Amino acid sequence: ALPEKVKIVEVGPRDGLQNEKSIVPTEAKIHLIDMLSESGLQVIEATSFVSPKWVPQMADQVEVMKGIQRKPGVTYPVLTPNLKGFQAAVKAGASEVAIFGAASELFSKKNINCSVDESLQRFDEVMKAAKEAAVPVRGYVSCVVGCPYEGKVAPEKVAHVAKRLYAMGCYEISLGDTIGVGTPGSMVDMLEAVTREVPVSALAVHCHDTYGQALANILVALQMGISVVDSSVAGLGGCPYAQGASGNVATEDVVYMLHGLGIQTGVELSKLMDAGAFICRTLNRKSSSKVAQATCKL
Ligand code: HMG
Ligand code: MG
Repeated sequence: ALPEKVKIVEVGPRDGLQNEKSIVPTEAKIHLIDMLSESGLQVIEATSFVSPKWVPQMADQVEVMKGIQRKPGVTYPVLTPNLKGFQAAVKAGASEVAIFGAASELFSKKNINCSVDESLQRFDEVMKAAKEAAVPVRGYVSCVVGCPYEGKVAPEKVAHVAKRLYAMGCYEISLGDTIGVGTPGSMVDMLEAVTREVPVSALAVHCHDTYGQALANILVALQMGISVVDSSVAGLGGCPYAQGASGNVATEDVVYMLHGLGIQTGVELSKLMDAGAFICRTLNRKSSSKVAQATCKL
């Protein structure tokens, strides 16, 4: 049975924009987030508190957090890889954060410069500070079906990291197919392993669309009881540490599919499309959303 409602976690302003080579003006980021807030999305990942040497595009994180108009009922989580990032995020007014680990050692090293075990120790520090500050923490696991450096990733490894993050106190674990190589087959194998360790109500899927499998992968996740889906407006993005990975599945396409299935999202597709059109104009690029492309031809 499919869920009645799905919570969409919009990651475009962070996962989408982090990979842009030329620096997107802070004003445009703020305007994008404000437009997304108006579309009915409940969760908008706004930016990340990572090293500006590693990801220069996110160097304006404080200005972005100060500039957005927070809509009541909408949360604006930010990525925090370590205690330094967590403290800076709270100081800038973040009320929710996300820690991000990986199921693959080499990806962990390239992405956050430490082993998986070391990352879990750092996250533990963040978690303790977050508990004290009553800040909810989301956990990501990257490379849940494949890694750009190690190839196929065993479902048991994903289950192990997801379980650790959940045990640490993350309220939700987002399973990232970072390079978009999963198929409904490998997704189901992975999800079967993870759901043995973490309740399905605490899981989200985070699909990139490199191989065009994202919507199919999301559908099998929904059929397995998952009701939280990460996506990116206009299909923006990629990952700076996963060369060749294309953007997240487009939020417009996810919303279109969900509404077609009779599943509620709370999102108004036309307003979401306006936000997508705005950021594509700003970046001077065509939308990667099939729904946006189709409507343009009407
Ligand atoms: P490091 O170099 O090992 O850290 O980087 P360090 O502790 O040795 O510090 C080095 C320098 O960075 C120092 O500055 C620190 O102060 C500074 P210096 O003394 O050289 O001037 N620093 C920081 N600055 C700002 N904010 C911080 C911070 N921490 C240290 N929080 C670190 C380790 C984790 C910081 C680095 O590797 C990093 O920033 N990585 C982030 C990479 C990233 O953002 N990747 C993309 C997001 S993950 C993703 O996209 C996947 C996801 O979408 C799910 C999926 O698709 O799978 C979530
Ligand atoms: Mg991602």
